[in-house]
Amino acid sequence: MTPLINRPRRLRRTAALRAMVRETRLDAANLIYPLFACPGEGVRREVRSMPGVFNLSVDELVKEAEEARRLGVSSVIVFGLPERKDEQGSGAFAEDGITQRAIRAVKREVKDLLVIADTCLCEYTSHGHCGVIKDGEVANDPTLEILAQTAVSQAQAGADVIAPSGMMDGMVAAIREGLDAAGFTDIPILSYAIKYASAFYGPFREAADSAPQFGDRRGYQMDPANAREALREAELDVEQGADMLMVKPALPFLDVIKAARERFTLPLAAYQVSGEYAQIKAAAQMGWIDEERIMMESLVAIKRAGADAILTYFAKDVIRQLS
Ligand code: PBG
Repeated sequence: MTPLINRPRRLRRTAALRAMVRETRLDAANLIYPLFACPGEGVRREVRSMPGVFNLSVDELVKEAEEARRLGVSSVIVFGLPERKDEQGSGAFAEDGITQRAIRAVKREVKDLLVIADTCLCEYTSHGHCGVIKDGEVANDPTLEILAQTAVSQAQAGADVIAPSGMMDGMVAAIREGLDAAGFTDIPILSYAIKYASAFYGPFREAADSAPQFGDRRGYQMDPANAREALREAELDVEQGADMLMVKPALPFLDVIKAARERFTLPLAAYQVSGEYAQIKAAAQMGWIDEERIMMESLVAIKRAGADAILTYFAKDVIRQLS
């Protein structure tokens, strides 16, 4: 037998060697922690299908944001469950809307925390769709105006970044125009550019009470079978002035994350969505997997594929592991 010259195992022998040659590291600065604001006071209601995730009244949400900040979380994304829903989703852009109140309170009470606003209508519409309905369909162009108005109201409340997630064509341009006209030329847009019509959002729809009341979202969110179309979606958002792009969900679409990373120069985010989180939590509760290790391995995979920032319900747990 010829002598083995190449022995990759040489660099795996000790923890110090492995750490020295490690290519990918998770960093607290890259994690975005989702928060769900709900009406009331003193409310901290756990989402049944997402253990460790809560619907929080504004006072409790501020406490949660403070704790997260203290641990080392540097940014949060805020979703809202309004008191009332209507056909237009008018709670999305109300000055005293649930999301606006939550953003205002966090910006006032928590120092140095970046606050991202999710900009969509599905939590606020009575029918649960991400836009207004005309002739039984989600109408694209009439929705754009409402999205722009929503983004402006979120920026007025103090949001540092606007993140449109409704997959309406032209949403980035409409929001950019609205923000600029209102004087918010410096507020960046993190576009959910590549968002699939995914069953992995199931638990979120319970958390945000946003399940569509008829039909589904396949008429506007992407077909999970498509990868080339993802690049087209991202390209259109770049042209419209997106500052950052997002792929969602994350783990089932690592190939798409990688392709977007290779094609575009903008910072890229990926959303480890509710179903990804719930799967890990459930299997861990059954004692079938090691929760901590699966959490870290999934997130490293998402980063290795090319995501700069990761939205994850595990943000606090990851930071505890890192320190
Ligand atoms: C709103 C929105 C959704 C998620 C983020 N923003 C739900 C959806 O499109 O149905 C999903 C997040 C998750 O599953 O964790 N459009």
